[in-house]
Amino acid sequence: MSVLVVGGAGYIGSHTAQALKRRGYEVVVYDNLSTGHAVLADGLELVVGDISDTAKLSQVLRRVDAVMHFAAFAYVGESVENPRKYFKNNVQDGLTLLNAVVDCKVSKFIFSSTCAVYGIPARVPITEDLPRLPVNPYGASKLAFEFALEAYGRAYDLRFVSFRYFNAAGADETGKIGEIHAPETHLIPSAFEAIGGERGALQIFGDDYPTPDGTCVRDYIHVNDLADAHVLGMEYLENGRSAKLNLGTGRGYSVREVISTIERISGRKVPTQMAPRRPGDPAELVADPSQAEKVLSWKAKYSLDQIVATAWSWAQSRKKTGK
Ligand code: UFG
Repeated sequence: MSVLVVGGAGYIGSHTAQALKRRGYEVVVYDNLSTGHAVLADGLELVVGDISDTAKLSQVLRRVDAVMHFAAFAYVGESVENPRKYFKNNVQDGLTLLNAVVDCKVSKFIFSSTCAVYGIPARVPITEDLPRLPVNPYGASKLAFEFALEAYGRAYDLRFVSFRYFNAAGADETGKIGEIHAPETHLIPSAFEAIGGERGALQIFGDDYPTPDGTCVRDYIHVNDLADAHVLGMEYLENGRSAKLNLGTGRGYSVREVISTIERISGRKVPTQMAPRRPGDPAELVADPSQAEKVLSWKAKYSLDQIVATAWSWAQSRKKTGK
């Protein structure tokens, strides 16, 4: 069985591509390398191409049984300033990919969705049946694609899983792949940059939220736990079903709790500075992952300590190797 991993030279895509390979799938990575890195696809077949290129896509789609789609822009702040970029890539070009998939008669599709589709949730932990009311263009672009998949699933011979990720973090233990973003905006790698003096103090975006210590609470999930869920999602599709599933741990940590975990694991002080709230940040986003646990027989295994430890090793090795 062969899987086309679109966006497989990116952060979550590369970890999933490796997990598929370990499980015995034939993997073809398709990536335009605009934000991906060829080094993250080392050891795999890499086709450099864009999701808007139907001809190139069709060539590779004819030789695979399933598609996983990770190729998207994912900066919330940027999506507010430049929504056109997000709707073009995540919706318009995403639909070009989806149409090519259907035209080439590939009937299994896994989509990287996000907890941002829920917007500011009416309750936490978040279950899949909560209303989808995104509060930024990034979340809206992902929701538009979810709607398309649901309609295509009903109309055509297409089975799909939409995985709504919470906060992906950590790196593979091999030290070969991990997070590479430019610019880096995510909390854990940003804190590492502050430790290393590669940026100024880490800004804590707001400490007046209605949470126990006033800082935002998020559900941090290890990227290999996400990757494992995708492999199981593939098996679920092989059994002929579709689903929309949260992928999180069910446990939230505040920004301050993450910072003190980073300090404990790294043995270094994180220089911090208080800053105003970041627009569009809900106070608390924590998954109820019970649906994914039930239908996939999956459970997130990595703790926050392991997430931080693997991310820290990766950041240190990148400095040494210059990756
Ligand atoms: N934070 C800081 N300082 C920083 C960076 C982050 O205080 O320098 C805080 C944020 O305010 C937030 C938490 O740390 O409370 C986590 O922020 P990240 O930027 O690491 O992640 P987000 O929660 O913003 O983003 C994630 C996914 C997005 C998704 C979003 C949904 O990466 O793809 O959740 O809200 F859209």
